[in-house]
Amino acid sequence: MIQVCSDTLMKMINKGITIQKEDLTGIANDIITNVQRASGIIKHMRDFSRMSEGIRSKVSINGPIQDVFKVLGHQLKVHRVDLELDLDPDLPEILAEHNRLEQVFINLVTNALDAMDEKEKVLGHQKWEKLLRIRSFLKEGFVTVTVSDTGTGMTPEIKEKIFEPFFTTKKIGKGTGLGISISYGIIRDYNGTIDISSRAGEGTTFELKFPVAP
Ligand SMILES: Nc1ncnc2c1ncn2[C@@H]1O[C@H](COP(=O)(O)OP(=O)(O)OP(=O)(O)O)[C@@H](O)[C@H]1O
Ligand SMILES: [Mg+2]
Repeated sequence: MIQVCSDTLMKMINKGITIQKEDLTGIANDIITNVQRASGIIKHMRDFSRMSEGIRSKVSINGPIQDVFKVLGHQLKVHRVDLELDLDPDLPEILAEHNRLEQVFINLVTNALDAMDEKEKVLGHQKWEKLLRIRSFLKEGFVTVTVSDTGTGMTPEIKEKIFEPFFTTKKIGKGTGLGISISYGIIRDYNGTIDISSRAGEGTTFELKFPVAP
């Protein structure tokens, strides 16, 4: 896209065509949009490759969950989001990599914050609670984590598509649509599963399950 834009410009310059202001603005905007998109993708890829050393060990899932808030704790305050952490201290360990799990939770929490921001835009000054709630517990022999938000929720159509790479409902520059698909890849690597329950206008809960380390 950036290539096409600059080729067009080059051709016009070479032919000595005077470029109209509107055309220039249009082309410049196309370039800006695509540079933003590309840098979003590069950021995800960098996080992804840095995180994948391939060494898994026995980890408690609570560690990476808590570490997310070293990175995003300030964001919660700025966005006036209440945080409810309910982590079972006696959970058995799972076989995974701390940093990659942290990446998964960063992606989920970022999405939750975006969804609550989005809802705020719709509701304006109306009162409601911005609540991010993360729980960890043992369920049917699996280490289970739920991440819930009181954001926009998803329509069934959106919910069906969110595992597709590059699927996003966000503005270019804001979202690349890679967060969930990368997270899904990581979770699957550790033999985990991810389930979503969501109601448009109400909020969303992601449920992650991992087998206990042998
Ligand atoms: N907690 C959530 N509440 C509502 N919608 C969500 C939530 N999480 C994901 N989505 C929907 O799924 C889409 C895909 O999410 P994903 O994290 O893969 O990409 P993104 O957030 O759009 O972009 P990026 O992760 O690169 O910033 C989002 O654009 C949004 O429409
Ligand atoms: Mg995301």
